[in-house]
Amino acid sequence: MLCLSFSSMANDDSNKATRVMPSTTAETEMSRLAGDEFYKKVQDGKKGYTTSLSMEHDVLVSHPSETWYILKEKWMSPLGAIAVLGSLAMVTLAYFIVGPLKLSAPRTGRKIKRWSRIDRALHWSMAFTFLSLAITGMTLVWGKHFLKPVISTDAWGDIVYAAKQFHNYVGPIFFILLGAVLIKWWRKSTFKKIDLQWCLKLGGMVGPHKGTHPSAEFSNAGEKIIFWMLITCGFIAAISGFVLDFPIFGQGRRDMDVSNLAHMISALILICGFIFHIYIGLFGMEGALEGMVKGEVDETWAKEHHDIWYAEMKAQGKVEEPEQSDPKSQETADNAKS
Ligand code: HEM
Repeated sequence: MLCLSFSSMANDDSNKATRVMPSTTAETEMSRLAGDEFYKKVQDGKKGYTTSLSMEHDVLVSHPSETWYILKEKWMSPLGAIAVLGSLAMVTLAYFIVGPLKLSAPRTGRKIKRWSRIDRALHWSMAFTFLSLAITGMTLVWGKHFLKPVISTDAWGDIVYAAKQFHNYVGPIFFILLGAVLIKWWRKSTFKKIDLQWCLKLGGMVGPHKGTHPSAEFSNAGEKIIFWMLITCGFIAAISGFVLDFPIFGQGRRDMDVSNLAHMISALILICGFIFHIYIGLFGMEGALEGMVKGEVDETWAKEHHDIWYAEMKAQGKVEEPEQSDPKSQETADNAKS
C-alpha cells in the first residue's frame, strides 16, 4: 500500500505535461481504479510520501521501468510467442517431411545398460519440473491474451494466482535438480574433436549425410549442445528467478526489470530448445525413449547412434545376451545372427 501525498504536486504545472491518456492495459486499469486525476499526478514519476523505508518507496510510477514494460510486452512477448509456435511448427514439419529416424538394421535383442535408476529419476523429475514451470510461466505471460477473454474473471484470477504460486515454489526445486544434473552428467558432455564431425554431418539426420550415422560417444554433439544450453540458460533462469522471488535483499526496480527480462529470454530459449529434444525423444528417433524409460537400449541402436560408446561397452563385456525365457527376443537375436 503506497499512500502518496500530493500537496506539493497540486500546483505544479509540469504535471499537466505530455502523457495523460493511459495507453497500456496496466495504465488503463490503474486509471480506472484510482481515477484519472490521481493517475495524472503519479504518472510523471513525481515523488510522494510513504512511511515505508524501502528503496524507491516514494515513487509510484517509475519511468525507467516503462522501458522494461515496453521490452517485455511489445517485444519479448510477441517474439517469444513466434519462437515457441515456430519451434512447434518446425518439429511438426520435421515429422511429416523428414520423418522419424528408424533403425537401419534389425534389433539384436541384446541389451546395454545406458541410464541408471538415479539417472532416470533425475531426468524425469527435471522434465516434469521444467515442463510445469514452462506451462505456468507461459500462462503468466500469454494467459491474458488467450485464456482471460474466454473464462470468467474469477476463474482467471484463480488460475493466474495458482500459476504464480506454483512457479514461485517449484522454481527453486528446478535449481536443485539442475545442480544435480550438472554434477552427474557434465563429464560425458564435454566436447571432443569427434563432435565437430557429427555437427558437420548434421547428425546424419538431414542434408547430404542423411541416413549416415556419424561417430558419437555416450552423448552425441547434439545432446552435448542441449546439455550446456540447459545448464547456462537454466542457471540464468533460476538465479534471475531467485532475484524476483525474494525481493528482500535490497534489489531496486532496475534489478527486478533486468532479472525479469533475463528470466524470460533464458526460459524462452530453453522452451524452444526442449521442444526439439522432446520431439526427438518421443517421435523423432526409434529406440531412444526405451533407454530413458527402461534404462537399457538395444545393441543395434547403440551401434548406430553411439558407436564409440558401443565399442567400449562391448570391450568391457557389457552387452547382455537376451534372457533365455524370452523366446521372442531369442528368436530376434538368432535371426540377426544368421
Ligand atoms: C516428454 C519429455 C521428454 C522426453 C520424452 C525426453 C526424452 C529423453 C531421452 C530419450 C533421453 C536419452 C537420450 C539418449 O539416451 O541418448 C533424454 C536425455 C536427456 N534429457 Fe530428456 N526428455 C524429455 C524432457 C526433458 C526436459 C524437459 C529436460 C530438461 C529441462 C530434459 C533433459 C535431458 C538431458 C539433460 C538429457 C541427457 C542428454 C545427454 O547428455 O545425453 N529432458 N531425454
